[in-house]
Amino acid sequence: MTKRVAVLPGDGIGVEVTREAMETVREACTVTGRRIDLEYFPYGADHYLKTGETLPPGAMETLAGFDAIFVGALGDPRVPDNRHAADILLGLRFGLDLYVNHRPVRLLDDRLCPLKGRTTADVDFVIFRENTEGLYVGVGGLFKRGTPDEIAIQEDINTRKGVERICRHAFEHATAHDRGKVLMSDKSNALVHGHDIWQRAFREVAGDYPAIEASHMYVDALAMQMIKDPSQFEVIVTCNMFGDILSDLGAQLQGGLGLAASANLHPGRTGLFEPVHGSAPRHAGRNIANPMGAILSAAMMLREIAHEEEAALLEQAVTACVRDGRTTRDLGGSCGTKETGDEVRRMMRPRS
Ligand code: NAD
Ligand code: IPM
Ligand code: MN
Repeated sequence: MTKRVAVLPGDGIGVEVTREAMETVREACTVTGRRIDLEYFPYGADHYLKTGETLPPGAMETLAGFDAIFVGALGDPRVPDNRHAADILLGLRFGLDLYVNHRPVRLLDDRLCPLKGRTTADVDFVIFRENTEGLYVGVGGLFKRGTPDEIAIQEDINTRKGVERICRHAFEHATAHDRGKVLMSDKSNALVHGHDIWQRAFREVAGDYPAIEASHMYVDALAMQMIKDPSQFEVIVTCNMFGDILSDLGAQLQGGLGLAASANLHPGRTGLFEPVHGSAPRHAGRNIANPMGAILSAAMMLREIAHEEEAALLEQAVTACVRDGRTTRDLGGSCGTKETGDEVRRMMRPRS
């Protein structure tokens, strides 16, 4: 059956990298002889400024009817409160209950690692970020806003069900991918209520996976250890806020945000795939953004919708281009966004 993908290019460089990623998906399907349907949706800053609409009524249900959703990036200086991004991106993560934010950290070429002496063998782990709770739920408010007495409250929500299911997902992933270790990171020494639940849930879930080594680090120590010795990590599971920060740190270990990929998942349901980076307004419209993070996110999407062969084509082609230095300038190359996409697609074509 032909798979259907909903595509939301979004804002800024999101539009440019999505164009390359989707063209690359099409090319992979041409190589393998399979069809894929891509349907575009305009939701983003332009659409919001024109219509006042962020994610219109019924859109969530429509998007949930696709086999996958691909998002470029959302964020635009003309929308300073980020309202549309909150409604669209966080709205879809929460509304579709995509509780797993899967963010791989994999160095493709020794040259790209900012750490002295580290090689591809040292940087290969995944971060599972809880994606539906924590500080992101928007519970709270402002009291006496704009006065000298103002108070801001932003609640951190950690539910037993939410924490348990992301921890379990991390162990299931480790089991399925031959990874021997899962590390949970929290700040339970300071957040004695919210993160006490992480301590207990993680320990209980770990008990169901005796073959996997379960360990813990406070998030400050983890940030330090990711730089000191990234080779010690295989699977990391953490809360929404820490996962956001650690995944940008992880992105830099692989060469930068231009390369980092992600998947927002609820196993068995429609997933949402997007590069880790944002809309980088200063880079927009200049043909300089790296499309590889978007292409690698598209590979995660293809794998999830049972297009393994196409996923592998994308990943192999990106790796080959990175190793040959056929990249945008963030990775030291001299190609533009479009030319990088062309190079990746050229690598995928069978040579006669
Ligand atoms: P950003 O990720 O957009 O950019 C930060 C810096 O990283 C850029 O200045 C650039 O140097 C580099 N970078 C990012 N992507 C790159 C790429 N593909 N190629 C080359 N270099 C790249 O983060 P920001 O500047 O903090 O945020 C800009 C806007 O994007 C904000 O509105 C923010 O809220 C939004 N944002 C959206 C998402 C998303 O939609 N998933 C993610 C992060 C930030
Ligand atoms: C990300 C982004 C988003 C997040 C922003 C745009 C709300 O930084 O996907 O990492 O914090 O989740
Ligand atoms: Mn982020």
